[in-house]
Amino acid sequence: MAVAERTRAVNGRVAEIFADLLESLTALVEKHRITFDEYRQAIGFLEDVSRQREVPLIMDVFLAVTVDNVNHIANGGTESSIEGPYYVAGAPVLELPYELPRRDEEPGDVLFCSGSVRSASGAVLPGATLDMWQANADGQYSQFSEGLPRHNLRGRFTTDEQGRFEVRTVVPAAYEIPKAGPTGRLLSALGRHHFRPAHLHFKVSHPDHELLTTQIFFEGDPWLDSDVVGAVKEPLVVRLEKKDASEWLAKRGLDRPCYACSYDFILRRRA
Ligand code: DHB
Ligand code: FE
Repeated sequence: MAVAERTRAVNGRVAEIFADLLESLTALVEKHRITFDEYRQAIGFLEDVSRQREVPLIMDVFLAVTVDNVNHIANGGTESSIEGPYYVAGAPVLELPYELPRRDEEPGDVLFCSGSVRSASGAVLPGATLDMWQANADGQYSQFSEGLPRHNLRGRFTTDEQGRFEVRTVVPAAYEIPKAGPTGRLLSALGRHHFRPAHLHFKVSHPDHELLTTQIFFEGDPWLDSDVVGAVKEPLVVRLEKKDASEWLAKRGLDRPCYACSYDFILRRRA
């Protein structure tokens, strides 16, 4: 497509979508007879969102799930879920045995997350890449909370010859949207809580297969049914199993009980 033609096509979409956006906002002003006071309050709110760097957060809280829904159908593959505002590209590439980078005194229970990556056809996928990130046991993400090392609890690793993986990390805590910022204040004003259930984030990739961005949740989490961003899908909920068999623990160099979870990811072949 010639550049001029492509530009016209892109602008056509912008014009069409903006017309619809403006129509919705105009109808909203008319329906609620918005006052100038309220109008100025809205401007102040948006400025605050920008100043406190919460544009990605507020967008993701209210709209990302819908964008994911209109763009992804599982169609034989693992259900997708949103990336969220805390992904950082370029996480460390791990070496065996895989352990997400953590502080010397990283709080929380040790978690071994294992599983496999397969193609929708059933074939195992050796050499698939998992890019994994998560909140720590205090519900904080590195690079987005003060005082955490760069890339803490973020890493990339690959599946073995059988398409399998196991990675050591810690059990994440539920994530609470900061209450003091504009997004948190809005949720409070709406009478809503601020929690996401505890979760692990993954981007799973393999040549010839579509990138899968998803999240894993844990059975029994109190926030599963009311995730503030609404990103939970039932097939993505796994059991968090307590491990206390001494042989299993010794094989992994542990002398205390820990937790394990497992997930088998299925990727769709690229069309
Ligand atoms: C959002 C997503 C997350 O994964 C998270 O940990 C916090 C917030 C969000 O969509 O806003
Ligand atoms: Fe998250």
